Amino acid sequence: MTSPHLPAAATVLLAALLDDMPRAELRAAQVAMSAIYRDGGHSRMAVPDATAALAYAVARMPATYAACARAFDLAATRMPAFAPVDGLDIGAGAGAATLAATAVWPQMTAARLIEPNAALAALAIGLIGSASAVAVSLGAHEVAAMPADGVATDLVMLSYMLAEQAESEVAAIVAAAAARARQMIIVVEPGTPAGYARVLAARQAMVAAGLHILAPCPHARPCPLASGDWCHFSVRLQRTAAHMQLKDASVPFEDERFSYVAAARNPVPVPTVARLIRPPVIEKGFADLALCTTDGLETRRIRRRDGAAYKSAKGLVWGDEV
Ligand SMILES: C[S@@+](CC[C@H](N)C(=O)[O-])C[C@H]1O[C@@H](n2cnc3c(N)ncnc32)[C@H](O)[C@@H]1O
Repeated sequence: MTSPHLPAAATVLLAALLDDMPRAELRAAQVAMSAIYRDGGHSRMAVPDATAALAYAVARMPATYAACARAFDLAATRMPAFAPVDGLDIGAGAGAATLAATAVWPQMTAARLIEPNAALAALAIGLIGSASAVAVSLGAHEVAAMPADGVATDLVMLSYMLAEQAESEVAAIVAAAAARARQMIIVVEPGTPAGYARVLAARQAMVAAGLHILAPCPHARPCPLASGDWCHFSVRLQRTAAHMQLKDASVPFEDERFSYVAAARNPVPVPTVARLIRPPVIEKGFADLALCTTDGLETRRIRRRDGAAYKSAKGLVWGDEV
């Protein structure tokens, strides 16, 4: 499993940038940013300058990076031969998705970032440069200005970006993004009902574009979850000292909830696996696994007397294939 933590070199660069930043300014930027995001505001308001971009990189990016690393790992498991050499990161922010991609697929040599926010884009270029040898190019514009006939890349990523678009715009954005995916496209969103709704719309656009759903779903039929429920996963990461300080955190870790969907350009074998869609319930005599299977939803009880199956159930993590 890829580490949920930002690469050490990126953390070192962030620490150096923080050294030059008065704490009061940073804290004011973080408080304003959080309030705007909480109200559903766009990054152009939440992150208006370099101070706010740094606040984003300290307060939010470690968690979006961790969610990407976990989602990319889970997608990679479904397509083990996939070895992307280039990527397109739409709404790249400070570069979380590209950095996670280079950790999961270290053979990547080039990334194109689409990011209209100059302060975030500058930070992304610095952070990616600090932690990898990936050649970065920047499209400093909105996704709508992305040329329809642009060069395709092996991997297309949209991480926590659709949250800032109207739900009605998601299908067109994902269709344009999918057209640029030579092999794989992944959307990662907050693990909330609103994030899941965008993931569902993205999934539908991927299927309509003729792509093949890779993960988390073991099928391409409509999602079987009951209305009011939402498919999401969680990743735990340790908070940095700067994060704890900036967010007045009392515990040294955070759990980032995320939803995601990944699809492939070419057909992939139909999975013989199911997806663990809730944390496993492990008791002394049994384990209950909530699964999304090719035949729909199922809760499977594995008893201690099942021996090896019970042992391996105890090692499962929410989101794993079973
Ligand atoms: C919440 S941030 C996520 C950044 C990064 N992908 C991450 O996961 O940490 C959303 C990003 O999407 C960008 N964005 C929002 N609307 C966009 C659009 N229409 N076209 C391109 N980028 C957009 C914002 O500027 C911002 O950098």
